[in-house]
Amino acid sequence: LNAPIGVFDSGVGGLTVLRALRGVLPGADFVYLGDTARLPYGTKSVLTVTRYAEQCAALLVARGICGLVVACNTASAAALTALRTAYPALPVIGVIEPGARAAVACSRSQCIAVLATESTVRQDAYRLAITRLSPAAQVRSRACALFVALAEEGWTEDAIAQAVARRYLDPLFGDAAPGAAVPDTLVLGCTHFPLLAEAVRAVLPDGVQIVDSAQTTALDAAQQLRTRAAAGQGRVQWLATDGAERFARVGGRFFGSALLAAEVEIVNL
Ligand code: DGL
Repeated sequence: LNAPIGVFDSGVGGLTVLRALRGVLPGADFVYLGDTARLPYGTKSVLTVTRYAEQCAALLVARGICGLVVACNTASAAALTALRTAYPALPVIGVIEPGARAAVACSRSQCIAVLATESTVRQDAYRLAITRLSPAAQVRSRACALFVALAEEGWTEDAIAQAVARRYLDPLFGDAAPGAAVPDTLVLGCTHFPLLAEAVRAVLPDGVQIVDSAQTTALDAAQQLRTRAAAGQGRVQWLATDGAERFARVGGRFFGSALLAAEVEIVNL
């Protein structure tokens, strides 16, 4: 029996996590759901995002998954506890705690900057997760809603992306009071943002490390799901709530290899 691992995001951002998951669990089967009809999640209320996440999870559970990876920071911040309560027998893995762990491990100064969606920042999700691991850490967060749109549009490496990155990053790194701690680590706290890493790097002060949660999340998932997912054949089923062609076109960039629109099943939530 080869039950797939369920993975979902508001759109194609979670494909950065799926890519890392396939790297550490090459034999596992996956079913990926992008809730493209309702993207973005990051500007919506916690109540709405929780409802969306519960619907995504229910659809994947109905497909017989052996574990669930919430490959969306916004949904992880809002709904991880609710999902774990709803499915007590199912391993449910989020991206925030692994991202926080990666940042704490990387930072010498324990002064950490976080770029995320409005919702993740409003919930203070990274500061809570980071200070749980490193109580004296200082965390500066910044909501970057436009990054989601830029990533979905594929405008990730040009002057526009850099200009937007500069606008978002300057308050985090540029205007520190004399003597104040300056972050030495930057967390890409949204699964869409790794696509903007080059633009962010171009405007970041020298010596600041960029971390994201894809790899640490994948390692967590591997630890929890290796036995359950062992009998697969490395297949991925693609589900989206709207726009198979767009999902395939944009998703290929996030996933790192071409996706076929004909292989994307449109589902209703
Ligand atoms: N990729 C999602 C995240 O990690 C959210 C993007 C969005 O829908 O706003 O937060």
